[in-house]
Amino acid sequence: MFDNKDILVLSGDGIGTEVVPVAVEVMKDVAKRFGLTLCFSDGLIGGAAIDQTGSPLPEETLTKALSARAVLLGAVGGPDWDDLPTLQRPERGLLGLRSGLSLFANLRPALLFAPLAAASSLKPELVAGLDILIVRELTGGIYFGEPRGIELRNNERCGFNTYVYAEHEIERIARVAFELAQKRNHRLCSVDKANVLEVTQLWREVVTSLASDYPDVALSHMYVDNAGMQLVREPKQFDVMVTGNMFGDILSDVAAMLTGSLGMLPSASLAADGRGLYEPVHGTAPDIAGQDKANPLATILSVAMMFRYSLDAPAAADVIEQAVDRVLELGFRTGDIIGRGIQAGQTLIGTRAMGEQVLTQIEQLEQTT
Ligand code: IPM
Ligand code: MG
Repeated sequence: MFDNKDILVLSGDGIGTEVVPVAVEVMKDVAKRFGLTLCFSDGLIGGAAIDQTGSPLPEETLTKALSARAVLLGAVGGPDWDDLPTLQRPERGLLGLRSGLSLFANLRPALLFAPLAAASSLKPELVAGLDILIVRELTGGIYFGEPRGIELRNNERCGFNTYVYAEHEIERIARVAFELAQKRNHRLCSVDKANVLEVTQLWREVVTSLASDYPDVALSHMYVDNAGMQLVREPKQFDVMVTGNMFGDILSDVAAMLTGSLGMLPSASLAADGRGLYEPVHGTAPDIAGQDKANPLATILSVAMMFRYSLDAPAAADVIEQAVDRVLELGFRTGDIIGRGIQAGQTLIGTRAMGEQVLTQIEQLEQTT
């Protein structure tokens, strides 16, 4: 579909501006090793874009993103822009990009790296070997439904949003999830609130109607409240979970924490035409921004996903993931993944040093193969 290997880099705000450059270094290094010629450009998004252009998603950024093979994004938002009206906030930049590129399928793997079992908020035996994939619908549902707003009704303000899904939107995300389940452990759990919301009754009906096309996948359904509970009770019962935009937002944060830290979770957002946007699941972390404390591994792992899903270089993805595993095995930790404090054999390091450790391990892995 795309011949070019143009990568658009959007660091955004807060720790986005620290973790993205580190991940780009890793990306350049690995691309070179695998003989891939990538062409990088960068652009503005979020609060930084508001400050410089007045818009959270400048036209130029969207145009560049539309012609790029893939986008690497940091995070957007922060206290400086919290008082802006909803439609002018930094988050709109990200939402505009997701919808402008039709990135309807958001893949959020929650994978526990064995050395981090102690950093999880759950007991190690509950999370050892955890490998869940949350497939979140990303361009519809209550995030985008109309009408929306805050207006005066009977002399008081009322806020309202619309939770709407058309059949084709449900079908396309469900098919992505079924296909991913076929490549994994053949179990798919669709999460809804069909006992209360008509929109998710339709969701359940459409997902069920597709099951016969995937006879090798065991489909189950779960209400979202129960799914939240099951994720913290017995997370390993899940393989692939598919759900709408808002439930996916919430459940993916829960799943992230099971793996030790939000700072470990990558994501890929894919369109039907092969376009992809890659970003860590975490936000801008204003409390630690600018201090070289942020964990760059979620962004580095997002780069691995980019090699796998957009650049057709799964071996490059494997090397990055193995290098991250080794760095953790060697005891290197950023503050978010020290669990109950630094243990013997562990070293607390910062953002840039973590990036360097990953590069060192990539180098060593390459030498041994
Ligand atoms: C996420 C974030 C975003 C979302 C925000 C920043 C708009 O929480 O990617 O999970 O709600 O989708
Ligand atoms: Mg979120």
